[in-house]
Amino acid sequence: MGRFDGQVAVVTGAAQGIGWAIAQRLGNEGAAVLLADLNGEGVQRRAEELEADGIKAAARQVDVGLVADVEGMVGDAVGRWGRLDMLVNNAFPAMEAVTGGAEDVLPEDYDKAMAVLVKASYLAARFGVSHMRRVGGGSIVNISSVHGLLAARGAFVYETGKAALIAATRQMAVEYGKDGIRANAIAPGHIATEVIEQALWDKNPTGRAFFAAQYPVGRVGEPEDIAAAVAFLCSEDAAFVTGHTLVVDGGLSVQLQENFGVEQAQYIKANQDTELPY
Ligand SMILES: NC(=O)c1ccc[n+]([C@@H]2O[C@H](COP(=O)([O-])OP(=O)(O)OC[C@H]3O[C@@H](n4cnc5c(N)ncnc54)[C@H](O)[C@@H]3O)[C@@H](O)[C@H]2O)c1
Repeated sequence: MGRFDGQVAVVTGAAQGIGWAIAQRLGNEGAAVLLADLNGEGVQRRAEELEADGIKAAARQVDVGLVADVEGMVGDAVGRWGRLDMLVNNAFPAMEAVTGGAEDVLPEDYDKAMAVLVKASYLAARFGVSHMRRVGGGSIVNISSVHGLLAARGAFVYETGKAALIAATRQMAVEYGKDGIRANAIAPGHIATEVIEQALWDKNPTGRAFFAAQYPVGRVGEPEDIAAAVAFLCSEDAAFVTGHTLVVDGGLSVQLQENFGVEQAQYIKANQDTELPY
């Protein structure tokens, strides 16, 4: 018996990384999963992997920033399996065009990135809530970030989008609580996905060790850490949890900054071969 037997989930950005781990986790706990991603071929392969394990799964190529695509995505899940219980908004846009402060970002690039960071969650709720209401409730999980709670230089669009997602989550919780629909956000710390391992850490083990040392638990996160948090928030164990932002960051963001800064300086003094990632 899985916790989500008979339930239906839509997971966006499910072709790789955190979204793929979430799709596997919900599927392994009994849900039928629609894996949605801009990368149609990638997500098709993932759905086939789940099906090979006996999980009900399907893939759909979607741009979560587009109205018709999100409407089609929700309709596809409901058309296949007759209901919708879980919506996980996880897709992550390419950020190269929107690095920098407000004055560095072009208006059209801002709009494109915000469509994925924020509008996607609104669209998924716009088309998904009525189906959840019909079956007596459901769970919306928006993947935000510690960047939605704290600010870094050079990341105006990301910080703004992830903070807006937390505000959207709270409003959805207040709006739809009476329908049995809960809405929560997750704020991950650094999660070493396969893409990040390949792009950053495989060629820089000293940088990875430096990052790990910043975390009170002594390691950076894994996609499965976030998948476990999503499963908790979607489960009956979280029946009284809504409007919440669950920080899943190994303690990174609760450290007193002054002491933390000194500890990092000490680390670099003791490990002078450390290659910084940025
Ligand atoms: N990895 C981390 O360290 C970290 C930390 C905090 C928060 N997060 C958040 O977790 C989520 C997943 O991150 P990740 O590292 O697994 O990302 P990733 O880049 O590995 O995967 C993102 C997926 O989203 C898909 N995608 C991109 N644009 C899309 C669109 N318009 N429509 C549909 N799909 C689209 C991509 O094709 C890709 O498969 C993101 O919301 C990210 O902001 C990640």
